[in-house]
Amino acid sequence: MQWSKTRSRAQFNLATSGVASFPLRELLVDLKELEINGDNSYGYAPLQQAIAAHHGVDPDCVVESAGTSMANHLCMAAILEPGDEVLIEHPAYGPILDTAHYLQANVKRFPRAKENGWAIDPAEVRRCVTPKTRLIVITNLHNPTSVLTPESVLREIGDTAQSVGALVLVDEVYLEAIYENTPRTSFHLGPQFAVTSSLTKVYGVSGLRCGWILARRDLAWKMRCLNDLYSATPVYPGELLSVAAFQHLDLLRERARRIVEADRKLLRDFLKQQSSLSAVSTEWGTTSFPRLLNGDADAFLERLRSEFNTSAVPGRFFEMPDHFRIGMGVNTEMFAQGLSRIGRALGSGD
Ligand SMILES: Cc1ncc(COP(=O)(O)O)c(C=O)c1O
Repeated sequence: MQWSKTRSRAQFNLATSGVASFPLRELLVDLKELEINGDNSYGYAPLQQAIAAHHGVDPDCVVESAGTSMANHLCMAAILEPGDEVLIEHPAYGPILDTAHYLQANVKRFPRAKENGWAIDPAEVRRCVTPKTRLIVITNLHNPTSVLTPESVLREIGDTAQSVGALVLVDEVYLEAIYENTPRTSFHLGPQFAVTSSLTKVYGVSGLRCGWILARRDLAWKMRCLNDLYSATPVYPGELLSVAAFQHLDLLRERARRIVEADRKLLRDFLKQQSSLSAVSTEWGTTSFPRLLNGDADAFLERLRSEFNTSAVPGRFFEMPDHFRIGMGVNTEMFAQGLSRIGRALGSGD
């Protein structure tokens, strides 16, 4: 997280994970209606209703949070006691692991194998679960690879969790980057599922910090009470703007989608030409996770930045040091330049 906040930027920045910022001036909202304070003790009802309607769930099961970051924290903190076993995918988004460690959970891992297209093998999850497992955590789409876990596999994971009295946390912050035929949220698969998401990655309004958790009622209430210890009350003007974002979600989605799709086409053509990279391609998502077949990826990324003004996320942040992550959806001209520079750096390398 510190690297991404302080060291990820470059003129050709492919170290992103979300889409371009959606500008306030394009959001169809009357700013004269904006207010500073309002009735939002445990969330602003119109926003909770908008989130609930978006997912087809009961508003009582919706907990507002400051982004998916706080959503993941609240969710794990409400479920895990120190010493509890939590089973987390590998490779994983770092802050999920950090949160589990911070909560003094006993962190166990199950692999997503590259040879298996980074898919989750439900038999692996079954093998790794123990009677002490309290929580299984996955991202869907997977960060960093953008691989989708289908509902059939999620159901199997849900059954495995249920067999030991555990819950499943599915971070769905990238799921709607599938666009056409996005599957419904896994929250619908059973009471053992809790889901986190936000408007950050797919809709370009990260600054609103509009995040949420979907959880069964008792857990949702526990998370709201826990949040009294953190941000206590949401930022009211942010909630008003988030309601406006939900009202015009198609506008936000389509603006980003054009860029993501153009970038993906460029990436696909690029990867076909690169014999020194290997990547599992997906039809969706805002990130790709190629492997550098020869040489040291960290040294390569250093050179890419210093000689070619281009950045990508080192795979070591996902415990895969010979990989790196490329982000799509910000600016197609910049993306094309960035890819061409990666190509030149590969060509001129060791
Ligand atoms: C899997 C995953 N979850 C959560 C987050 C944080 O999202 P937010 O900006 O909504 O806090 C990220 C950001 O990179 C992420 O990749």
